[in-house]
Amino acid sequence: MNVFLHETVLKEEAVNGLRVKPDGIYVDCTLGGAGHSRMIAERLQPNGVLIGLDQDQMALDHARKRLQDAQCRLHLVKSNFRFLDQVIKELGYDHVDGCLFDLGVSSPQLDIGERGFSYQHDAPLDMRMDETSELTAYTIVNEWSQEELTRILFEYGEEKFSRRIAKEIVNTREKMPISTTHQLVEVIKQAIPAPARRTGPHPARRTFQAIRIAVNDELNAFGDALAAALRVLGPNGRIAVITFHSLEDRICKKFFQKHAQGCICPPDFPVCTCNQKADLRIITKKPILPSAEEIERNARARSAKLRIAERIKEG
Ligand SMILES: C[S@@+](CC[C@H](N)C(=O)[O-])C[C@H]1O[C@@H](n2cnc3c(N)ncnc32)[C@H](O)[C@@H]1O
Repeated sequence: MNVFLHETVLKEEAVNGLRVKPDGIYVDCTLGGAGHSRMIAERLQPNGVLIGLDQDQMALDHARKRLQDAQCRLHLVKSNFRFLDQVIKELGYDHVDGCLFDLGVSSPQLDIGERGFSYQHDAPLDMRMDETSELTAYTIVNEWSQEELTRILFEYGEEKFSRRIAKEIVNTREKMPISTTHQLVEVIKQAIPAPARRTGPHPARRTFQAIRIAVNDELNAFGDALAAALRVLGPNGRIAVITFHSLEDRICKKFFQKHAQGCICPPDFPVCTCNQKADLRIITKKPILPSAEEIERNARARSAKLRIAERIKEG
């Protein structure tokens, strides 16, 4: 694959939200095709630092090419963003001035059939962003218990037919393993009632989302990464997060709210006994959404939400 065609979502809004200082240190935790990173790099002087992380080697290889003219100091690291603080330390920095997350998969990950992310391409069930990790969609579909399958379809896919689909998966695999994306699509279609098959989005969309989240442990990794980001953010440093579904957005919103909350003592307490201090200030009371024009240009942007928070100066 020679070109990496990914249309960057909320580019200006997210990079403006970081308030890039020309000599600051910034981490793009989801490098992808480097769309956001290029804009950050353009705002940095030669003594500014851009650190790009991705767990997908293909993304890193393309990002390296797209950033070859960057004038700032550049570190591109293959890592899960949940280890963000360790990476920063290993590179020799004690803080950063901003962290950006643009969650989910890139368009090339979806479009390269063999990666097995898409119900539109027939391919082996894979869905790993990090192709060196062990757990694949095949293992989940063919080895996880009916209860576990029901749980992930319900929790990660918000799939109302989770029980029926999990049962059909287990019945089918007793006869023969389910090896490909299109075999799985057929199983899902068999499981759900005919009227539901004919209306709304593709009947496999929620199940594929759920399995992808489970394969990549996406929600736990994101929760860990927010905590890691808070540990490395310097005073007034910013976190900008673009989410694409309600589960991710809820984690981000709750994390920001929890850390923006100061004293939690009952109002009639004469003095504070909880000693809880806010360590974040929420910059976006409501999430920033893409413009109608951006959605028109890029359908993938339609569910995007951008939230920004700022580290409160300590002491
Ligand atoms: C939506 S794309 C980012 C696109 C990028 N902002 C751009 O404009 O080109 C998300 C990227 O994050 C990566 N990613 C997702 N979860 C990750 C994780 N836990 N650790 C590291 N990278 C991750 C994916 O591999 C993918 O390349």
